[in-house]
Amino acid sequence: MTISMAASHSVGKVAKDAIFGASAAANKAVLEFGAGKVTNATIGAFMDDEERLACIPTVEKIFRELPMKDIIAYAPISGLPAYLDAVIDLTFADQKPEGYFASVATAGGTGVIHHSIWNYSEIGDTVLTSDWFWGAYNILCTEAKRKLDTYALFDEAHSFNIAGFSAKVKEILAKQDSILIIINTPAHNPTGYSLSEEDWTQVLDVCRDHAEGGKKKITLLVDIAYIDFAGEKNECRKFMKQFGHLPENILGIFAFSMSKGYTLYGQRTGAMIGVSSSKEVIREFAEINQYTSRATWSNINRGAMTMLATIHQDQALTRQFEAEREAYYQLIRERGAIFMEEAKACGLKALPYKAGFFLSVPAKDSVAVCQKLHEDLIFAVPLKRGVRIAACAVPAAKMKGIAAKTLKALQFVDGVK
Ligand SMILES: Cc1ncc(COP(=O)(O)O)c(C=O)c1O
Repeated sequence: MTISMAASHSVGKVAKDAIFGASAAANKAVLEFGAGKVTNATIGAFMDDEERLACIPTVEKIFRELPMKDIIAYAPISGLPAYLDAVIDLTFADQKPEGYFASVATAGGTGVIHHSIWNYSEIGDTVLTSDWFWGAYNILCTEAKRKLDTYALFDEAHSFNIAGFSAKVKEILAKQDSILIIINTPAHNPTGYSLSEEDWTQVLDVCRDHAEGGKKKITLLVDIAYIDFAGEKNECRKFMKQFGHLPENILGIFAFSMSKGYTLYGQRTGAMIGVSSSKEVIREFAEINQYTSRATWSNINRGAMTMLATIHQDQALTRQFEAEREAYYQLIRERGAIFMEEAKACGLKALPYKAGFFLSVPAKDSVAVCQKLHEDLIFAVPLKRGVRIAACAVPAAKMKGIAAKTLKALQFVDGVK
């Protein structure tokens, strides 16, 4: 007889993470065969060409120079005012839509997703995202007693599947009065896809159609965790302008995170930025999300917020910081390009990677494909729909040859089945 002390809604919960399992296997292989022979494509953080976890030098310098009081003092629950202003500038750059805005500090991008689910979907309702998605979305929904449903991200031609998106929004809104839609772009985890300007026009048109008449409420959560590794600053933010002049019953939320953009993953600092044509909706946004912060983690990391504001308020520091981050981005870009060019050359059907930390290859039995890759000392993450390879973590020299080996592993697994 087993005994559980857990409340009924908590019994049996285990956060099984395919990523940690895969990375443990990679670490074991490193001990056995040496780091030089092993390709660890499981890590979700930027590793330099020597495969060391890298910190943007200006971030490290400013962070280390912070006075102790800026590290240890409490911050206001909604965030430091200079930080809250800065994250709005940083989120939009020159592509700020017209409308009203508010920002609320959160514990990373994860905190934004948590608050958005809690405050913008009903208990028991369904939240929508694409079929290739970051696994934490599901855990966050389940924990908050919501369901997560998906549409196929790509159509046959590997373009954004607007028909599938539209059909799912319609289906869910036939049953619910409101919907929270999570779209991770640009540089989507796990595929590296970025919605185009045209994709966004279509997405927002679908939302406008359903919002007409004011009966349904739609919240679009844009998860921009990887935006700083997605291309030229203003080019990859152009779509944001389209969030201006939306009907009052469509709310835009952008999930800003310092994890990747500042290489500060463990400092747990982010912000949610609300955009609406209604002043009232934004006032409410600031109030209810601050309330949820108080009820969840109270205030967040003061040191990281101060560090961001310090860089942002100094033009020379900002230029230096951006140049350093750009250099990291170019390394990731080169790694991604090697894989995609080789995939094309050998006939491996990878998903349409545009940018970012990860790229993916569809596979029916991704666990078996990853296992086969272990024979070549390549470690990737088996997801439900395929294999995820971390361009952020694999140096260019080791990226060479992975595509062909993945194809070989896929063919082997298909041949066995
Ligand atoms: C798609 C996506 N969104 C958001 C995040 C948020 O990360 P954090 O909570 O560290 O800001 C991550 C991190 O892995 C991610 O992959």
